[in-house]
Amino acid sequence: MSASPENAGPQTLQRKLIVTPRPGGFGAAITGVDLAHMTQGEADAVHQAYLDHQVIVIRDQDLTPDQLVEFSARFGPIGEQENNKFAHPENDRVVILSNEIRPDGTAIGVVDAGDAWHSDSSHHEIPETATILQSIRNTKTGGDTDFCDMYAAYESLPDATKRRIEGRFGVHHVAKTLNPRVVVSTNRPGAKEYYEMQERTRPKVLQPLVRTHEETGRQALFASPRFTITIDGMDDAEAQPLLDELFATIENPAHQYRHKYQDRDVVVWDNRCIVHRATGGYALPDIRRMHRTTVLGKVRPFYRPN
Ligand code: SIN
Repeated sequence: MSASPENAGPQTLQRKLIVTPRPGGFGAAITGVDLAHMTQGEADAVHQAYLDHQVIVIRDQDLTPDQLVEFSARFGPIGEQENNKFAHPENDRVVILSNEIRPDGTAIGVVDAGDAWHSDSSHHEIPETATILQSIRNTKTGGDTDFCDMYAAYESLPDATKRRIEGRFGVHHVAKTLNPRVVVSTNRPGAKEYYEMQERTRPKVLQPLVRTHEETGRQALFASPRFTITIDGMDDAEAQPLLDELFATIENPAHQYRHKYQDRDVVVWDNRCIVHRATGGYALPDIRRMHRTTVLGKVRPFYRPN
């Protein structure tokens, strides 16, 4: 059979990568690319779309765990997974997020990752930059991820508030037991003891409340209800209402995008200018399974005035 537009397989057709920005805000869909076999030009276009749109969604991708790691490494060095009990057996840089339970009663993945607004690992001195989620299996209801544009959140603040936070540092910590804004999950056995141990053993980390993105030069609000527990050098009587004001900008629907997954989606987001949360809303026997990688930052977050 001769190759005609009707019978040529997709692999023989000329691919054309197209970036379609989401109307009215941040986020973009990318089509016409096979993430496992990109040219350098396509990889550059994907990276530029990530910088321009903060969250990119690439549908219909079939990546093995090794290919997911190879794709993720285009954004920088891959992070080690903190919870390597749930590392993928084929590649330990991939962590499994899932509510699936094995016949022996053990969980195959992290059950309730990221259920409060956060920027990944902002409790580390050098937090992760990109996070990549590959959607393997989706639930009939729920299981979405919410994203908030932290450039827009910062820009929406009154000038007086911008002046109050300029050059100040938020105090970040992973221990939920130190944070009145979050609850320790009852779904995860041993969670309370785990966070009490983190409280004793991990230092508090200071991060600028306004973060200058080192690649785009734009200013973003850099604080989250999950990890920012107070403001350095400020009494709680002043710091907590100020944090409430900052966090209210995250709750503004105009700054948000809710991603509803299809199987085979790959979603990449930029933690330097995005906070996100898993929305939950599903239960067994409905199963959600995601494969997740993260990319290490290269520099400590900083603020550089315009
Ligand atoms: C995460 O916080 O990285 C997970 C988000 C999700 O599972 O929707």
